[in-house]
Amino acid sequence: MNENVKSKFNGYINTINEFIDKNVEVLYPEKIYESMRYSLLAGGKRLRPVIAIETASLFNVPLENILPAACAIEMLHCQSLIHDDLPCMDDDDFRRGKPSNHKMFGEATAVLAGDALLSYAPKFIIDKTPKTVSSDVLINVLKEFFTAAGVDGIISGQIVDLDSEKKKISKEVLHYLYEYKTAKLFKLAVRTGAIIGHADDEVTEKLTLFAQYYGHAFQIYDDLLDVTSTLEEIGKTPGKDEKSEKSTYVSMFGCAEAKKQILFLCSQACDILNGNGIKSDILNGIVSDIVEGVMKCS
Ligand code: IPE
Ligand code: IPE
Ligand code: MG
Ligand code: MG
Ligand code: MG
Repeated sequence: MNENVKSKFNGYINTINEFIDKNVEVLYPEKIYESMRYSLLAGGKRLRPVIAIETASLFNVPLENILPAACAIEMLHCQSLIHDDLPCMDDDDFRRGKPSNHKMFGEATAVLAGDALLSYAPKFIIDKTPKTVSSDVLINVLKEFFTAAGVDGIISGQIVDLDSEKKKISKEVLHYLYEYKTAKLFKLAVRTGAIIGHADDEVTEKLTLFAQYYGHAFQIYDDLLDVTSTLEEIGKTPGKDEKSEKSTYVSMFGCAEAKKQILFLCSQACDILNGNGIKSDILNGIVSDIVEGVMKCS
């Protein structure tokens, strides 16, 4: 991502962080709000809300109309990370370079903080989206949100991910778990921007396909980084996938094949943008970040 695009991206990140910080207030009982805020404000690349804002901007949506939904998608993502790190799931002590939520607050609070975020997020969309966005549009946004959050989305991806530990799975099952645990959230991000932007069905489907290619590339890259990076670089414990005997593209086909597949998926993602006149420096930039990362990976 070149410097201009990076500074636009960082501008979005600041806006997202300020909006979350200002609007997720600490009330009684403080412990649960503090636990939610701990994970929400612990850093993170903010890719999903940035993608939602950027997609909406392609359709000239005012920032205030997309910001609450974009932040809600980040809340859903944070929920998935808090639960993903629990000892009964991936058992990771670190997240975003800090102790994971259950390490700071204990397991019971971490479970409740995840649960809390899951219902806080859609309510946040309803409460904070300006009334200029119609109820019909909001209902469609919420339907997309619940679909991605539930058994038609992350939950099914996560259960197949966990069920695929310590066993051989087919390429189809691997594709399923990438699609559901990861790509669905990126699809939610673009689709939310498109819905609020009243995009037509054709361009919405193209953006969804972009998110699919990007999401699969992103997860295989995450699996690659698990093998090649340090705790300082990724902010979470490396080598976890091998230790848990996870089924990943890397464990099934090796690093070299994984790199090839990531580059293939990235080129497909760019082709969708270029072939359909979708002009977005940020969407192109996040793809080139993965390509550059893979090139540096050894
Ligand atoms: C981590 O996502 C979970 C995966 C889908 C691999 P990110 O790598 O986007 O995590 P943050 O938000 O930057 O911490
Ligand atoms: C993450 O997959 C998918 C989620 C829905 C959280 P991973 O388990 O590989 O994510 P990290 O590596 O812990 O961030
Ligand atoms: Mg996991
Ligand atoms: Mg994990
Ligand atoms: Mg991982």
